[in-house]
Amino acid sequence: MGEVLRQSGIPESLWGRASGGYSLGEGTAFLNFVHYDTRNPDLGLRPHTDYGFVTILDATAPGLQIKIAGDFVDVPVLPGHLIINFGEALHFVTAYSERSVGAVVHRVLSQQSIDPLRHGIVYFANPDLEGMLWQFDAKGEVKGNSSVQGLFALLEKNLTE
Ligand SMILES: [Fe+2]
Repeated sequence: MGEVLRQSGIPESLWGRASGGYSLGEGTAFLNFVHYDTRNPDLGLRPHTDYGFVTILDATAPGLQIKIAGDFVDVPVLPGHLIINFGEALHFVTAYSERSVGAVVHRVLSQQSIDPLRHGIVYFANPDLEGMLWQFDAKGEVKGNSSVQGLFALLEKNLTE
């Protein structure tokens, strides 16, 4: 996350405020152990963006797809590799920076596999739900802010409309 903020050009002295304290060691991290039953032909997860900063996925079988230029494409499963996905909070924080990060639209297909069950380990790095996120440009000027709850509520509203 620090490297993303460095690339954004936002002055380092503002990273803590921008990220609602995350870059200073605050925020929320949680680990999910996911199980998809590949015998079910339905979508494993409908198209969505993650709300937090970064998601790190250790996938053991294909099924994850990301949207590129309007089309969903498979993310290859490579032994010994992790998949890193950027979310809406990181998009919000970097929106006015020199290098804005897009929240990646992705979905999970449920599909046939040699192994009928698919597992994944997912790590979510999220801002503190009680915190504030601030938008800065590369000059350090404030461009906007939102409570984390406000941002997540807006994303939820857009998702259901
Ligand atoms: Fe996701």
